[in-house]
Amino acid sequence: MISPHYLRKLTRFARITALGAGEILDKKARQHHRIELKGRVDLVTDADLASESYIIDSIQHQYPDHSILTEEKASIDNGSEFKWIIDPLDGTTNFAHNFPFYCVSIALECQGEMILGAIYDPMRDEMFSACKGGGAWLNRRKITVTDQAKLEHALLATGFPYDIGSSREDNLKQFRRFAKLARGIRRAGSAALDLCYLACGRFDGFWELKLHPWDTAAGIVIVTEAGGKVTDFAGAGYSIYDKYILATNGRIHSQMVKVLTK
Ligand code: IPD
Ligand code: CA
Ligand code: CA
Repeated sequence: MISPHYLRKLTRFARITALGAGEILDKKARQHHRIELKGRVDLVTDADLASESYIIDSIQHQYPDHSILTEEKASIDNGSEFKWIIDPLDGTTNFAHNFPFYCVSIALECQGEMILGAIYDPMRDEMFSACKGGGAWLNRRKITVTDQAKLEHALLATGFPYDIGSSREDNLKQFRRFAKLARGIRRAGSAALDLCYLACGRFDGFWELKLHPWDTAAGIVIVTEAGGKVTDFAGAGYSIYDKYILATNGRIHSQMVKVLTK
């Protein structure tokens, strides 16, 4: 068990580091982007790498014995009970196309449990953060999910996996079903920000498949602390290492489970 004081200190560190990395993305956004393909449509830019190096250096300076799991570099396993889980740029495709919807996501796992998350959107200067038991925050404002109880009035968010071109499991069937049942669906291109938008009431529900731990680690703490519910598609407990995520305001959860398990 870690003390509330130490948890607050770690959360402050996550926020400051996400802000610093966001400033790097902001600067890189004004320069020519160096883009490389990781797969057919999966990209990495020099901004992903610069943000990641900055975050890893900050953690290793402040908490040298902690482990780190990050998207672009090999993970660092120090055998610590603490593991930082990082997406240095969530929304790389958006960034590469100058579509202004991307963020930095930093989370901390302690003994297998997600205990804090900080997600920073440098385009809007919005810092979303939460630690276990401390509520969820957007800058200095406490945030909560909506109380929308009807799927037909709900605004949903989702995304499509990078292997959409080659895999039969592509989210299109679910997208089609929800498009006919909900008020609207947005595919904005950053799963971490989608979760934050759910936490602060801009979305009512979010589902996606084949995400990675760094896409959801910080966001699920923020959603949960904002009063939302996070499970797999069947309504069972969600782990960041799972393939399917369903996150909602809680009120439309069972309606979405019904559609996803049909
Ligand atoms: C991606 C974004 C996107 C989601 C993809 C993710 P990246 O992360 O979160 O919204 O649909 O599946 O991989 O590659 O931009 O860090
Ligand atoms: Ca990501
Ligand atoms: Ca990324």
